[in-house]
Formats: sequence, structure tokens, C-alpha cells
Amino acid sequence: MRKLLLLIPVLFVLSCQQKSTDEGAVSAIVRDVHSFAEPEKAIVKHLDLDLNVDFSTQIISGKAIWTIENTSGGTEIVFDSRQLQIQKVTLDADEKETTFSLGDEIKYLGQPLRVKIDPSTTKVTIYYSASKDAAAVQWLNPQQTAGKKYPFLFTQSQAILARTWIPCQDSPGIRFTYNAKVTVPKDLLAVMSAENPQAKNTEGIYSFKQPNPIPSYLMALAIGDLEFKSIDGRTGVYAEPATISKAVYEFADMGKMVNSAEKIYGPYKWGRYDVIVLPPSFPFGGMENPMLTFVTPTLIAGDQSLVSVIAHELAHSWSGNLVTNSTWDDFWLNEGFTTYFERRIVEDVFGKDEAGMQELLGYGVLKDLVKEMGETNPDTKLKGNYEGRDPDEGVSEIAYEKGYSFLRTIEDAVGREKFDIFLNEYFSSHAFKSVTSEEFLADLEGKLLKGDKGLKDKINPDLWVYQPGLPGNSPAVGSVKFKVLDSLITKWKSSSNADVFNSVKLSSNESLYLISHLPENTSIDQLKVLDQVFKFTPSGNAEIQAAWYALAIRKRYQPANKNIEAFLTTVGRRKFLMPLYKELVKTPEGKEWAKKIYINARPNYHSVAYNSIDELLK
Ligand code: BES
Ligand code: ZN
Repeated sequence: MRKLLLLIPVLFVLSCQQKSTDEGAVSAIVRDVHSFAEPEKAIVKHLDLDLNVDFSTQIISGKAIWTIENTSGGTEIVFDSRQLQIQKVTLDADEKETTFSLGDEIKYLGQPLRVKIDPSTTKVTIYYSASKDAAAVQWLNPQQTAGKKYPFLFTQSQAILARTWIPCQDSPGIRFTYNAKVTVPKDLLAVMSAENPQAKNTEGIYSFKQPNPIPSYLMALAIGDLEFKSIDGRTGVYAEPATISKAVYEFADMGKMVNSAEKIYGPYKWGRYDVIVLPPSFPFGGMENPMLTFVTPTLIAGDQSLVSVIAHELAHSWSGNLVTNSTWDDFWLNEGFTTYFERRIVEDVFGKDEAGMQELLGYGVLKDLVKEMGETNPDTKLKGNYEGRDPDEGVSEIAYEKGYSFLRTIEDAVGREKFDIFLNEYFSSHAFKSVTSEEFLADLEGKLLKGDKGLKDKINPDLWVYQPGLPGNSPAVGSVKFKVLDSLITKWKSSSNADVFNSVKLSSNESLYLISHLPENTSIDQLKVLDQVFKFTPSGNAEIQAAWYALAIRKRYQPANKNIEAFLTTVGRRKFLMPLYKELVKTPEGKEWAKKIYINARPNYHSVAYNSIDELLK
């Protein structure tokens, strides 16, 4: 009997794999190794959330009322939970108390919450509180905000942190609609990944509604001294009063980007598209929370040069939020598609040149990364395998840039017109569903390549998706502006005379290109001269700062030291922090310095950033 029980999960996996390659079996439930949920038994459909957010104890508590479908007619529903205190669980409208159990804790995954239900149960109400240290949540004191007067809170649920503040079936293959009521201190405004209020009220009680079914990783909440300003009829910005005007200026093209995106891949299905500017500890450039993208304030460079991040998060309204990766092993379907779509929007709104430069910079990053990881490293495959690991480890440029290169290869082989028709159809036929890499490949084969063997050989989809390293068949990329820069760099190399650059004005992309294409033997004196001409060290552009500071650390260019410390202490964006700390730990003195900085900096980082850096500085 025991043997038979052990076999059941295996058979289940096999049958799911079978299903996922069958044509038409879209969104069959695929086993997700990063969730305890057993959706084939009973699955959630809708959430009514009622939360109180207490800044003095730093505890979120309340109830989650789940409307469920007991598909198997069985007696159990399983949720994910991590760092949660479950007080009681009741069933249906009469709130009859039921029994529940929390299983063994597994690192990253937390514990399964098993709730006893009846075959007829349609509602499960979980009374709970989150931990003060809930990994998704960052509580900021007033000093860590722009205005320095009020505290702030934000959540980051992707990939598997929603379960640290809401008991849920925390798998990207499971979707639900939600309504929420959130009670916060009276002088603060709360916003969520939903239809949002645009002003504070006197009670501090806010209501939200997300009418489209979304996966749990898109559950999000931010609370602070926030103001709203609209950009156009359907777009606008939330930010602290100290930041709001700068943000409105920086993101003035948001409306244009939504229009452009719709023109390419069909209607925007989410109603409003707003952005909230968070304090600098936000660990990402942006997070595509539906209807309300969360962004880092480091996008505000003053010259609109970093708005491609907005194009990226907006693009997720199609690739990710509408059509979602089934499991975190298919993460490239979210990020590769989004990087492709991001550059299409950038091309349409800002021109081919701009998109081309971003493509080239991206390809450079990808090549370097594959070299660093090793060409045979299984983590360089598009289809990942993160079983037994935190899916956060899969967040690398592989999903973004190798995914992008794969899609560009398809575009190049079939032509843009056909590819666009295919993608339009892909977004509409899989809308509000999740997709595996296998389902995408089946679609590609059945709806685009249609048995054309020559075309398939030219693209070689299996090589891209299942093999490590970088296939050599991606289209050649080039940029006129970078070519000009190349010749200046060559001239400068031979003469070592900074006059070469004297009257040159560099855009943000060109600066990044120059910094990453300086000859390895560039001397400190040469760096000084460049710094005088281009003012990299005191730059207000965080991308340039991060690239220049990494070089400065490698070259021991000390004039940047103060700025490096200040940057690492205030900015919590992981993409910037990791390369800088990685560069620092390469030498004993560097590691010493990093540890010193980290003592002051760590309290300013969100858990997804400090967990990665703790590991590095061990
Ligand atoms: N969804 C991601 C951020 C993310 C990925 C959070 C995985 C947690 C796990 C977001 O859309 C993103 O890709 N952000 C990028 C921006 C970008 C333009 C590449 C970032 O933060 O750098
Ligand atoms: Zn993304």
C-alpha cells in the first residue's frame, strides 16, 4: 500500500506531462514543485481579503475568505503558507469552524496548510497574521522614504513570497479574482494590484477590486504618504509628494506606450495602467503588478532615459499577467517575451536606433553571462529546473536575453508580419491562462512553422529551449551610434588623448556601451580623464553609476569610493547590488570594505536583496 501511495505522485507527474504536450489541453494543471497546493483536489477561484496593517507592531493580520471549487468532491484543500500564524479556519457562510494542520517546514517553500472541508464546501475563511519578518514585506521607517516623515510598506510577492503574507495556492498556474479591504494609519494611502483609490480618506480604510483572474505572485500592496497625478485618461503615477512632479515628468510617455503596445499585440485588458514610485530599497527596477506597476525611484534620471523599464512592465500586461508561465521553470516565457515586447514598444515610441542599442547592450550582457556560467551549465537552458532550489535562483539574464534572442531568431526567420499575427493569436487564445514551454513549442510548430522543415531547422527551437549555451543562429545586431563610439574608443586607445571625446555628448546607452568597452588595460589616469569629461562618478543615472562603479572597484579607482558607499547604502535594487558586491569580494580588501558598508546598508534592503548578498559575504 505504501509503495502504491509513493507511486501516485509519479503517475500524476507523468500524466500531467502527457497532457501538457497534447494540443488543445491548454492550462491542464501542471505540477508545480514550488507549491504545496494540490489543485486537482480543490482549487481557489476568488479571494476576499480583509487586512489590518499595524505599523507599530509591524504586523499584517486579518482574514482571507477563499471561494473554492472542490473539484474532486474530497475532504481537503491545501494552501501554501510560510511564516504565517493561523488562528482559525471556518467553512461557508455560517462559518462553522474546521480543523487544519501545518505540515513540515521546507526551506523557501514554507509549510503546507491542510484544511478539512466538506464535499459541498464553497468558502474557506482563514484567520491569520503574518510575521513581523514576512519575507515579501518591507517595513520602512520615515528616514528610508523620500519625505522622511511617514513610514512606508511595500510587498514583493514574485516568485514564491505571496505565501508569507497571504495563505494562498501560491503557484503561477492557479488564478483567482480578488476584492480587498485594507485598514491603515489614517494619514497614509494604500494601493494594490487592483482598481485603486486616487486620494486618502479620513478613515484609513481602502477597498480594492481585481476583476480579472490573476496568479498569487501578482498580489501586491503598498502603503505610504502617497499622492496621485494623472498622465492621461488611463495612466497616472502614485508617489510621495517629494517625488510626484519629477515622476510625472519622467514617465510622461506612459500613455503613448500603452497605445503603442495595443497596436502591436491587441487590447490592454486591465482598465487603468498606473505606476507607483517606491522608496529606493525596492529590490527591482520594476514589478508588473496588474494595473499598478511598482518601480524603483532610480528610474527617475531626470531625462526620461530609463523609461524602457516602464515599457517592460507594461509589456507584462500581455506576457506574464495575461499569459503566464505555468511554473517557475518556464520563467523565460514571462521575461523573454516581455523583453522582446519591451523593445518593440521602445522601437515604436522612441525609434529603431534606441531599440537597437538596447538589443546590443543586452546581447553583450548575455554573452558575458554565458561565458561566466559556462557554456554547458544547465542553468543556461531556457527551460529551467529549479526543483529543490529557490526559483529566485532562476532570475538571470538567461530568461530575459536568451529568451529575447530566441524570439528575435523566430522573427527573423518568418518575418515580422507573420510573427505578429502568431503572437496576437497566442495572447488571445491563452488569455488568463498559463502556458508551459512545451505548449509554446507546440503552438509554434502547429500555428507558425506548420510543418515547414526548412524553417524549423533554421530556427532550431529545441536547441534554444532545452540546450545550454548560446545557439549561433541569432540575427546579427548592429548600431550606427555604437560604431561611431567604437572608432572613438580605438582612436583614444592609440593616442590616449581625451581630446577625442571632448565635444562628444553621450546618451545613457552610449555611456553604458563606452564603460563596458573600455580596453582592459585602461589606466587610473585615463579613468580620471574620462570621469572629468563625462562625469560618471557623480552621475544621476543609476544604470551608469552601477556600471561605472563596478569598473571603479575592479580598477581600484578611488575617487569613486564615496559615491560607491552612498549608492550601496541607499539603493536596494538587486540587479545593481549583486555585480558591485561580487566585484568587491574578489579581493580581501574589497571584501573587508564590502562588509563595512553592508553593516549600514543591509537594514535598507528588502529580503530578496539581502538574502542574495548574505550568501555572497558569508
Ligand atoms: N517580474 C520582474 C521582476 C522579478 C522577476 C521579480 C523574478 C521577482 C522574481 C520584472 O518584470 C523585471 O523583469 N524587472 C527588471 C526590469 C527590466 C527592464 C529587465 C528589473 O527589475 O531589473
Ligand atoms: Zn520582467
